[in-house]
Amino acid sequence: MSKKKVAILISGRGSNMEALIKACQDATFPASIELVISNKKEAYGLEIAQSYGIQTESLNRKNFQNDHEFDSKISAILKENNIEIICTAGYMKILTKDFVESWHNQIINIHPSLLPDYKGLNTHKRVLDDGVQLAGCTTHIVESELDSGQILMQATVPVLKDDTEDTLATRVLKMEHIIFPETLKRIATDEFRFDK
Ligand code: GRF
Repeated sequence: MSKKKVAILISGRGSNMEALIKACQDATFPASIELVISNKKEAYGLEIAQSYGIQTESLNRKNFQNDHEFDSKISAILKENNIEIICTAGYMKILTKDFVESWHNQIINIHPSLLPDYKGLNTHKRVLDDGVQLAGCTTHIVESELDSGQILMQATVPVLKDDTEDTLATRVLKMEHIIFPETLKRIATDEFRFDK
């Protein structure tokens, strides 16, 4: 079986990244993680990736003239490594339109809400403030408009009476770690249909 070559972009803790790496360790999984790139050199996820023997890169935006040059460098690294699928997993930098267009339908993101509700940051706080009963997470194709590309998978969790941001985030994160690898598997095997 030929495996799809995957890169993961991170900025921090890297728990979703680790869930993807673990899934890819299964010999029958149709994708392999070739590379992890962080825009923060202190990202803990870099250490985790290295502990699995995965190649890592960290790039500092301050060393580039603008976002376009920064993303062009990332693109070049991805191409040098023959990457076919990009997973953004807690990557806290908005990708440029050019980058997103040049990797059309090849970038998948995980977002900690039931999109299209609660795009952007602080999702769990907003869910609690609104008093809604259902929270969850979504995997989707990345488009240049934030958190707006085609939805691939979602998982729901109940919001409990005594939930804090932390308890809710923990419950949602558990589901993120399930649907992100499953989404990658389905993307790698061309199981999804895409809007054109
Ligand atoms: C996750 O909740 C993800 O959905 C969001 O940022 C968080 C990253 O966590 N985009 P981790 O770095 O994967 O642990």
